[in-house]
Amino acid sequence: MSHDLNRIRDFFNEQFENHGESAAGVGWNSAYAQDTRFEQLLKVINPAEPFSLIEFGCGYGYLVDYLDRREIKPKRFYGLDIVPASIDAAKAKFTNRADYSFHLDPEEIPISDYLVASGVFNVKLTASNPDWTRYVIDQLDRFNRWTTKGFSVNFLTKYSDYERMAERPDLYYADPCFLFDYCKTNYARNVALLHDYEIYDFTLIVRK
Ligand SMILES: C[S@@+](CC[C@H](N)C(=O)[O-])C[C@H]1O[C@@H](n2cnc3c(N)ncnc32)[C@H](O)[C@@H]1O
Repeated sequence: MSHDLNRIRDFFNEQFENHGESAAGVGWNSAYAQDTRFEQLLKVINPAEPFSLIEFGCGYGYLVDYLDRREIKPKRFYGLDIVPASIDAAKAKFTNRADYSFHLDPEEIPISDYLVASGVFNVKLTASNPDWTRYVIDQLDRFNRWTTKGFSVNFLTKYSDYERMAERPDLYYADPCFLFDYCKTNYARNVALLHDYEIYDFTLIVRK
């Protein structure tokens, strides 16, 4: 899997080189889709209590701008990505925010209240579906170990138009029912599957 991850890194590095700090720079179609996904993912958070937050796959740190706009303030924010240029851009942009840090090494990030992950499992390139599903499960297990209050993650849905999916064997169209069952069985009694926000995508909220 580490070999595949290098290719995934190359893919996202190229997006960032070509499109810079924009939705397209992290592989999204539009800022609307980027925002809609964060709107769903952040439902895991109870903002009434102070919280620390990890973003797994933070790109150039767009979530920080989104949190600012929504006036949501984590007491500590850790962004993690595999693309050095994206992490450098995030560090440069948010250099004056002492409680926000950006990392390439996951070992630097402690157990935190929440973790969110947007779009990190969509591009599988040539990995087979069963191999990618195993990779996803390994990462979800890791998200679970990394958090005390909960985590949320989104996926492209297998309930997309057949023709579109057939054209894109490089993308992973996940089975929401399988993943819901896995989360409910293994992580928490309180799990929500959100599949009602128009784009071809769903969100899992795991509340512990
Ligand atoms: C579709 S982009 C979304 C970026 C950001 N979450 C946003 O919505 O603006 C997915 C990001 O996940 C990163 N990524 C993919 N696999 C990763 C992994 N195993 N560990 C950390 N980051 C990863 C990619 O480099 C890319 O920046």
